[in-house]
Amino acid sequence: MKILVIIGSLRKKNTYDTVKKIEEYHKNYSDFKYEYLFLKDINFKLCKGCFVCISDGEEKCPLKDDRDLIINKIENSDGIILASPNYVMNVCWLMKNYIDRFAYTMHRPKYFNQYFMILITSGSYMGTKQASNALSLMSSGGKIISKLSIYNSPGMNKNKKEKQEKKIKREAKRFYKLLSNKKKHRPSFGFLVWFSVFNASSIENKKYFPADYEFFKNKNYFINIKLTLLQKLIVSFFTNFFTILIKKGFI
Ligand SMILES: Cc1cc2nc3c(=O)[nH]c(=O)nc-3n(C[C@H](O)[C@H](O)[C@H](O)COP(=O)(O)O)c2cc1C
Repeated sequence: MKILVIIGSLRKKNTYDTVKKIEEYHKNYSDFKYEYLFLKDINFKLCKGCFVCISDGEEKCPLKDDRDLIINKIENSDGIILASPNYVMNVCWLMKNYIDRFAYTMHRPKYFNQYFMILITSGSYMGTKQASNALSLMSSGGKIISKLSIYNSPGMNKNKKEKQEKKIKREAKRFYKLLSNKKKHRPSFGFLVWFSVFNASSIENKKYFPADYEFFKNKNYFINIKLTLLQKLIVSFFTNFFTILIKKGFI
């Protein structure tokens, strides 16, 4: 199985070392093939904030760089580890740029066949949750099967260090188990509700979001994934509910 590691760090240190440990564990019991992609090493320009990818479609992005290479690598991988250090209670700026460049995938989900691990490394526990939550938004229809936050403060005692090592080992195993047991995943309830918001919005706001409208048009509730009757009912209910809220100007 192919594992793609996307790292936002500006250097090859704590975050990289943590992923390497996970890779080492996997070598013991899996056939996982790792590929590392450092955002700092590719041609990945800063988001200009023009909003064109969201409104008119990602193919209209004025920036010409390696963005599509990233998409291609994700689509050709089974598992993706999104990894960033915690910078002032969020992801580091290179990873924030990644989030902004792929903001359109929040409107138009994409990675239904992929499984994700979200990894944050940090000096302390403060802000790791915020960073992890921000990065989790980038699974875009894929399933997050593991979230790991690792601390590496220089003053950490032996006991705490051992705890962190155990955490890495445990999470590596969990990622392996859930990924190897790869049934086609079903979208979660939260995702169905999220989807319904944009489904409703694409109809009500088609003038402002033509790309969303085209994406959701005639999709019969969902893209690429067959829903159960109950899931279709959930999407139908929430799409109608959000349509009413949008019409009334609440959202
Ligand atoms: C600009 C900057 C801001 C940081 N902010 C925080 C922070 O808010 N909380 C924290 O616990 N660690 C913070 N750190 C520490 C890093 O998150 C931590 O050392 C991380 O593991 C570095 O990963 P790297 O070696 O992959 O760059 C910060 C580091 C830098 C350089």
